[in-house]
Amino acid sequence: MEFSELRRLRSAFGTFLTGITVVTTRQGDGIPRGFTANSFTSVSLDPPMLLVCVDKQAESLDVFLESPGFGISILAENQIDLSVLFASKQPEKFEIAEWTDSPSGYPILEGACAWFDCEQCNQVDSGDHVVLFGKILNFGYNSKYGLGYIRGGYMTPGLEYSAGRAYGSDSPVVVGAIVEHDGKILLYDDPKNADVYLPASGLDGNSGSLQQLQSSLIDQGIWIVIDSLFAVYENEDHASQSIYYRASTRKVERLELFRPIDQIPWDGISSPALKSMLNRYIEESSRKRFGIYFGSDRNGIIQNLM
Ligand SMILES: Cc1cc2nc3c(=O)[nH]c(=O)nc-3n(C[C@H](O)[C@H](O)[C@H](O)COP(=O)(O)O)c2cc1C
Repeated sequence: MEFSELRRLRSAFGTFLTGITVVTTRQGDGIPRGFTANSFTSVSLDPPMLLVCVDKQAESLDVFLESPGFGISILAENQIDLSVLFASKQPEKFEIAEWTDSPSGYPILEGACAWFDCEQCNQVDSGDHVVLFGKILNFGYNSKYGLGYIRGGYMTPGLEYSAGRAYGSDSPVVVGAIVEHDGKILLYDDPKNADVYLPASGLDGNSGSLQQLQSSLIDQGIWIVIDSLFAVYENEDHASQSIYYRASTRKVERLELFRPIDQIPWDGISSPALKSMLNRYIEESSRKRFGIYFGSDRNGIIQNLM
């Protein structure tokens, strides 16, 4: 098939909304191996079976072909960073992620919304992939929403459902986060415009997304975990929407970007909306009870989370 035809086919496949899994095993010397896969499919209830397709280009292909079994973690919607991590060639994947062993000894990622412990029962060589069939020996799940993937981008169904009002509008969306690490908050300084602001994507007037925000933070060595939605509001003067999440960190390489909560340079923050969001954050984090603000940058209501 020609290259342009391949691209069209990839795009056509990409319209199919999937979840995201991380497939893991151990090589002969016990070292864990794993990669991100959206080719996971449930196959049979009785006997319980599933499948996943491994690219023949994957460095871990031989390890999976030789392994008696494998583990599958279905990622929760706040685990975009783990999807990015396990799709990378980072050698420290298993040092960065938190995990435990499945009963058969395959790594299962902490915080996933479901997991399966499988014995490998069949392999089918299929074009540029090998299909691995797993007989499910053990499994578990919880009530978290799973992470979605469509047209090359991530979807966070639960968070987006809550933020639906903003996403449903035609105006550009700023997607930002209050990221806390060890009692400090991630804040940027823009000396040129004498402003202090929170990390966000879409500040250039084009709509941002959670995925863009997380990718740009990963580029700065900051791996975040989205904890919950924090504020959804319309900016009355600019006809734009803002969505801010509350996030914690998994790994931070640039501690200097974080400021202690009692040293926030309030006078440097030009946006009244950001000021009031940060104030509410500090007040709510002392009570460890967070709400979600819905409204405009002038008026709104706070919906308390259970
Ligand atoms: C959203 C997403 C889905 C993916 N799905 C698959 C898949 O189903 N099968 C696969 O072999 N690779 C898939 N990949 C690519 C692998 O995660 C990636 O190539 C990884 O680096 C392979 O690891 P390895 O080369 O260290 O074995 C996917 C990547 C992403 C970002």
